Amino acid sequence: MNLFIKNISQLVTVSAKGALVKTGAAMNDLGILENAGVLCLNGRISWVGPMERWNEKLAPEIPEIDAADRTVLPGFVDSHTHMMFAGSRVDEFSQRARGQSYQHIAAQGGGILSTVNHVRATDKRELKRATARYLSDLLRYGTTTVEIKSGYGLSPDAEIKMLEAIHELEVEEIIGIVATFIGAHAVPAEFADNRDGYVAQVLEKMIPYVGKKKLAKFCDVFCEGSYFDAGTAERILNAGKAHGMSPKIHAEELSHGGGAAVAAKVGAVSADHLEHVSDEDIVALRDAGVVATLLPGVSFFLHHGYAPARKLIDGGVAVALATDFNPGSCMSFSMPMMMTIACTQMQMSPEEALVAATLNGAAALQCSDDTGSIEVGKRGDLIVANVPDYRYLAYHFGTNHVSMTVKNGTILEL
Ligand code: NIG
Ligand code: FE
Repeated sequence: MNLFIKNISQLVTVSAKGALVKTGAAMNDLGILENAGVLCLNGRISWVGPMERWNEKLAPEIPEIDAADRTVLPGFVDSHTHMMFAGSRVDEFSQRARGQSYQHIAAQGGGILSTVNHVRATDKRELKRATARYLSDLLRYGTTTVEIKSGYGLSPDAEIKMLEAIHELEVEEIIGIVATFIGAHAVPAEFADNRDGYVAQVLEKMIPYVGKKKLAKFCDVFCEGSYFDAGTAERILNAGKAHGMSPKIHAEELSHGGGAAVAAKVGAVSADHLEHVSDEDIVALRDAGVVATLLPGVSFFLHHGYAPARKLIDGGVAVALATDFNPGSCMSFSMPMMMTIACTQMQMSPEEALVAATLNGAAALQCSDDTGSIEVGKRGDLIVANVPDYRYLAYHFGTNHVSMTVKNGTILEL
């Protein structure tokens, strides 16, 4: 709860000076201090500054850490995951390695629906246990806040089972958790010939219940050709809004389906994926203040094209990076790995990648007033990395540089 980190060689604050998100050139401003300190009191940051201005009387007798030769940064905010799942899709990984596409595998009954079968057959306790194991790994890799989606239940009972499990983890676990309802993730097998029937169930049964029980902060839809079209996505997101859930959308992932325009129209908090976003969409997203959440791990893992990060940033859209951690399209929870891919494949600068993985990720979860940068009043969510300079996190890839994760001012044993 109380902690002073002193003698930090490089303190990357990502300070936005009160703003809730960074866009354009501001994404290259990291607010770096050298030989600095951070004080956390009662879980919140209460002082940040150069060591020469530190006055010990501010906090006598509180635990101290010496971070000489180390870099301190805000904890990562992973704003898009499907990390509650059961079963494995390693066979699909092998099939893809032999040249089968993600879409082909899904059309054969694999993909999301294969995970749905496993999740339906798994009880809540086991789902929680499997997810909790990954959550402690996430903390070791520096993620201090994570969003978790439902969407592998696809029936009222199984979606509620997932959301209750996520909610219980939110209470029990140290990491920050934000729940998203995505009943419209795929059409379940029993509704294969009755898509409208399934949509009606999402609209009339699931959304009102999830809203009433406050089981999710966000409502999301997979807007894509053979999944849910733009008109349906709009209806579902508006229904979610009417029941207290802010909209998010999986848009323009495998093809251009109109999801980005829907995001702008309904005032979505974020539009995610965007590999096939158009120039017109970029203007609409910027004007509507929608965060573009890019998921480079998916393009990497499925050998698809990347989202046009440069065009989005230069066009004034706030860009966030997230993992999409899920068993099918990105089996990785490593935010530094996403930063590496963003820098090497998407022409994002290391500075933009870091802002996208912290403050802008928090903005995509509507919690950037509370976390995502090292600023007085925010949560004491930060990482100590064993690197001489923040750029090494993306540059020296495939290894974990985090030597300590601090959540709410508490040091977590790694
Ligand atoms: O974000 N696009 C839809 N949903 C996930 C994939 C989930 C899965 O394959 O299980 C995604 O890529
Ligand atoms: Fe996703």
